[in-house]
Amino acid sequence: NKLDLNEIRTAFLDFYEERKHTRLKSFSLVPKDDASLFLINAGMAPLKAYFLGEKKMENNRAVSSQRCVRTQDIESVGKTDRHATYFEMLGDFSFGDYFKNEAIHWAFEFLTKVIGLEKDRLWITVYKDDEEAFRIWTEEMGIAPDHMFKLGKEDNFWELDQGPCGPCSEIHYDRGEKYGEGTSPLDNSDRFMEIWNLVFTQFDKKSDGTYEPLANPNIDTGMGLERIAVVVEDVANIFEVSTFRPLRDKIETLSGKKYGQSA
Ligand code: ALA
Repeated sequence: NKLDLNEIRTAFLDFYEERKHTRLKSFSLVPKDDASLFLINAGMAPLKAYFLGEKKMENNRAVSSQRCVRTQDIESVGKTDRHATYFEMLGDFSFGDYFKNEAIHWAFEFLTKVIGLEKDRLWITVYKDDEEAFRIWTEEMGIAPDHMFKLGKEDNFWELDQGPCGPCSEIHYDRGEKYGEGTSPLDNSDRFMEIWNLVFTQFDKKSDGTYEPLANPNIDTGMGLERIAVVVEDVANIFEVSTFRPLRDKIETLSGKKYGQSA
């Protein structure tokens, strides 16, 4: 019995709440007290004060499904199976509490045990100097070394213009040959879908571009809810997941056009 999108969201929030995370509601898309952003574009964006240690939260752990608007990828919207401007981001966050080990272990447990993905379909990238993350994935999670890639700053370092940032590890899922060309996530096709980004937040990027080390390293993760629903519901693209489908059907009725009739 496969979970649908709404059930995946609940399963995610429950999983991390059981692991002592404070369950947060999605914040408004309009940032509060943050002049560096026009709209909230990541789960961590409304939580910057916690990452910087300016505010405290019970357990120093949180989980959310945050509504996001992201425009960096706007040229890809409508052309790939996986890009949208508006989406929800599932995330677990540690404010100076747990770090890499728990972040990777729980992500792997959620994906393989709770939603039942096959381990051998997972492909992982880590930052080139991050031997620790590489070791945890291969030795403790049992990911085959040929499903692992060490990449540079353009791929495996996550940052906004300003604020908490750091090296990251991305989890990709192989949806199979019918969804695209390529033999690994490096080919950037729709076959290997990036589903989850684990950021090991160690720096505060200043407006002048310098990186100030944070007193306590944090965890900031982001999994695209619509993307993971594509995988779990086994549909072709984000416009076919259970929550989009009724909208698409309505648009068909209103427009008199049939979805999928032509590119
Ligand atoms: N903040 C990270 C991202 O948006 C998790 O990918």
